Amino acid sequence: MASSSHLAGDAPSFTMGSTGGKTYIVEHLEEELGPWSNLEYIAIAKESHLSGAKFCLSSLPPAFKVPEALSAVPSFEAEHRSVEEIYASDKSRVCLLDPAAAKDLSPEDGTTFDAFLFGGILGDDPPRDRTSELRKKGFEGRRLGPKQMTTDTAVRVTRMVVEGKTPLTEIPYLDFPELKFSERESTQMPFRYVKNEDGEPIMPRGMLELIKKDADKAIDDLF
Ligand SMILES: C[S@@+](CC[C@H](N)C(=O)[O-])C[C@H]1O[C@@H](n2cnc3c(N)ncnc32)[C@H](O)[C@@H]1O
Repeated sequence: MASSSHLAGDAPSFTMGSTGGKTYIVEHLEEELGPWSNLEYIAIAKESHLSGAKFCLSSLPPAFKVPEALSAVPSFEAEHRSVEEIYASDKSRVCLLDPAAAKDLSPEDGTTFDAFLFGGILGDDPPRDRTSELRKKGFEGRRLGPKQMTTDTAVRVTRMVVEGKTPLTEIPYLDFPELKFSERESTQMPFRYVKNEDGEPIMPRGMLELIKKDADKAIDDLF
């Protein structure tokens, strides 16, 4: 197993600028909070806290129970309102990270926008463009390059660009990595990740174990 993968939220390996104060909003678009999203949101919350930013999970259904590990992160906010209600009086401050946007995100966008909006959607292959549900809301959009990222990677890359002032083209990526669990067992991930110093994809703590468990279950289901 690629156990040396950098664990997101523990100690980021990239340098952040001193331009904290940003808000990262994930508009929750799935029915429930699945285990993958849970780990991704915990990683986003911890990394946001470390950089002095806020992480807001919006559009939560009334009965939504925020997991303890998430509510324990000081700069995390759970919101039942949707993003257009929260920013009703100042939509121009919000940038939607949209794989179909005409323009790529740049370090200068860190001065134009102070909130960055992401779809709380699990990655899918091929992508079904569910970010279109947020596009309809009319926020200005920016793309993070041509490849689909996991939600926590998309937030990480946005932070590196707007807080760390690193252009998108200078970020070390790892595309579609193969995770090796044993001699005979491996899984290829259909996403782009940020690469750590050891050449491993940066993933939320617990994600490798979850991917392995899901892969084992898929094999069991065949029999
Ligand atoms: C896992 S992606 C989901 C993409 C999804 N398959 C879709 O149908 O839109 C979750 C979120 O990360 C952001 N994202 C991921 N890759 C991106 C990219 N290349 N450019 C801009 N945003 C991206 C978007 O906000 C997207 O809604």
